[in-house]
Parts: sequence; structure tokens; C-alpha cells
Amino acid sequence: MGDNPREDPDDIQVAESILNMDPPKHTRVRQLLGKAFTSRRVEQLRPRARQFAASLIDDMLAEGSPGDLVASYSFTFPAMVICDLLGIPQADWHQFSSWSDGMSSTSTASPERQREIYLNLFTYFDQLLKERREHPGADLLSALAQARDNDDRLTESELVFQGLGLLIGGRETTAHQITNVVYTLLTHPGQLELLRARPELIPAAVEELLRFIVLGNAINPRIATADVQLGDVLVRSGEPVLAAITGANRDESVFDRPDELDITRQPNPHLTFGYGPHFCPGAQLARMELQVSLDAILLRLPGLRMAVPEPSLSWQEGTVMRSPTALPLSWDTD
Ligand code: HEM
Repeated sequence: MGDNPREDPDDIQVAESILNMDPPKHTRVRQLLGKAFTSRRVEQLRPRARQFAASLIDDMLAEGSPGDLVASYSFTFPAMVICDLLGIPQADWHQFSSWSDGMSSTSTASPERQREIYLNLFTYFDQLLKERREHPGADLLSALAQARDNDDRLTESELVFQGLGLLIGGRETTAHQITNVVYTLLTHPGQLELLRARPELIPAAVEELLRFIVLGNAINPRIATADVQLGDVLVRSGEPVLAAITGANRDESVFDRPDELDITRQPNPHLTFGYGPHFCPGAQLARMELQVSLDAILLRLPGLRMAVPEPSLSWQEGTVMRSPTALPLSWDTD
């Protein structure tokens, strides 16, 4: 992959990650992934996702107001959904989540510890895949193992890497966004009130929140493989490019009043899930998780408000994704 800018000096995960593949390898893996990870599969998961959200909110209610959304919900919910989707046995969810915590961009684990966790995850997936090949279930991992394009199918090692990529990539982005979505609505009370009055706006609100929130910027460096004229700029072959998604999402030639949060905005062609061949294959899943979460949080925690003054919130530092480290919330209890 050349000597391009890296976030991590260790290339252990980078080599086989779909994010870093080019055609024809990328096209092939992406097609096989698309055969298993379909919108239909995501929609079928919605009722289960609603149950997971409800059970976490039940726990928050039982513990009482105030409660921290980050500790009680934001990271746990996407972990439950992705483990269920992949068909990880429920008895292993806790172990799995703690490994995946250690691999996350907010982790303080040393490179040695990260390598150890990675090997654990790799071995676990490898074993699970062997079982799924022999006894396929209705889960995504079984579907990936069976996915075929003519005579082509994913190799054992490709399957393990795709499973790992879905687990790690799918869990963390959504977790940060759940916290950010709730924080952003609480700091835009007019929009929150509108959403409470018109919950049918939740899907449009999720799109607008995805556009408006600065989750991170220019996460993946890309290297030009040929000279490309981009507007006024000539990008020469071999030069790195960091595409500023946030900048594109606030482009005033595309969006009217781009710095305003407007949950009724239509159309909303934001670029939060990327663009082109690497467009996020988890976009439908992330949307579904955010819609289910907003619905559950607004419905079940009436009078939701921040339990601390907004300036006292602390934010993740030194990471590629931005969100509050804790979001203490209060709600009406009578
Ligand atoms: C709000 C949540 C999410 C955001 C903002 C997000 C954003 C993105 C973006 C911007 C890309 C393209 C990166 C590039 O072009 O370099 C991407 C790729 C990817 N995302 Fe997501 N994502 C989210 C959730 C998910 C979920 C839930 C999954 C899976 C369960 C997932 C799996 C992936 C994978 C596997 C890729 C690589 C695709 C490829 O290289 O062909 N993402 N995501």
C-alpha cells in the first residue's frame, strides 16, 4: 500500500482491511460482502434491535435518573446488534465486547496488548467460521461463508478479516454517533421539541444529524494512482489526499443554511458514509440503529435533559472520532 500516512505504526490490521484494498481485489471482496450483508437482512434485524434498546433503557430506568448514556447505552447497543447480526453466541458477547473495546480508537491498550487481543479475536473468528461452514445458521457470518460469485468465494483468511472489520468498524462509529445525536438534539431544544411532537420525522432527523455532526474528518488517507484535476487543484499521482467529509457536508453550494440543524431538510445528500467504491456497506445498519435508539430514548425517557452544565462535558481526545466521554442525563420520573 505504499508509504502513505498512517494512524497506527503497526500494520497488523491494515494489510487485509477492505478499506485499503484497490480493484480488482476490492471489487471482488465487496461484491461477495454485498451478497451477504443486504438491506433485507438489516430490516429483519430491526425488531431484535428494538428489544435490545428497550432492555438497556429498562436497566437505565431501574438504576434511576440521572444516568450516563455512554456507559449505559451508546457502546453496548451497537455491540449487541453487531454480535447478533454476526451470529456470535450470546454467552460470548461480553468477552467479545471487551476485546473489541481494546481494539477501538479510544483504547489506551499498549501495542503489545492490542496485538494479543487481535490474535484472540482472529482465533475466535477462525474457529467460529469453521463451525459455521459445517453447520450454517441464519446469521451474517454463515451467509458470508456461503456467499458465491460464480465459482468465487471468500477464502478463510478473507472471511476472518471481513468479520473482524464489520465488528470493529461497525461498533465504534455507531457508538460515537448515538452519543453525538442525543447531545446535538439536547443542545438544539427547538429541534428536539419538533421531533418529540412529530416522531415520524426520526428518519429525516437521523440524516440531518449525520450531516451536521462533526464525527471526525478525513479519516482515511487515499493515494492518487494517476494525475487528477479536482476543481482548481491538480492532484499528482502518488500524492496523498484527505477528503474532508465535514467540509462537504457544510458546502453552501449544496446545502441551504448549511450551519443550521434542520431536521426537516429535504433532500439531504450528505457524505457521512463516504462516496464511490468504498461507500459504507454498514450505512443501512447504522441508520437503523440510530433510528431505533432515538425512538427508544425519546419515548422511554420523558423530559430528557442534560444532568450537568454543557461546558463541563469532556470530549474524547487523541482519537479519530469525536464524542463526549460521558453524557449524564436526567429524565422525569413521576
Ligand atoms: C454512523 C456510523 C457510520 C459511519 C459514519 C461510517 C462511515 C464510513 C465511511 C465514511 C466509510 C468510507 C471510508 C472511505 O471511503 O475511505 C465507511 C466504510 C466502511 N464502513 Fe462504515 N460507517 C458507519 C457504520 C458502519 C457499520 C455499522 C458498519 C458495519 C457493520 C460499517 C462498516 C464499514 C466497512 C466494512 C467499510 C469499508 C468499505 C470499503 O472499503 O469498501 N460502517 N464507513
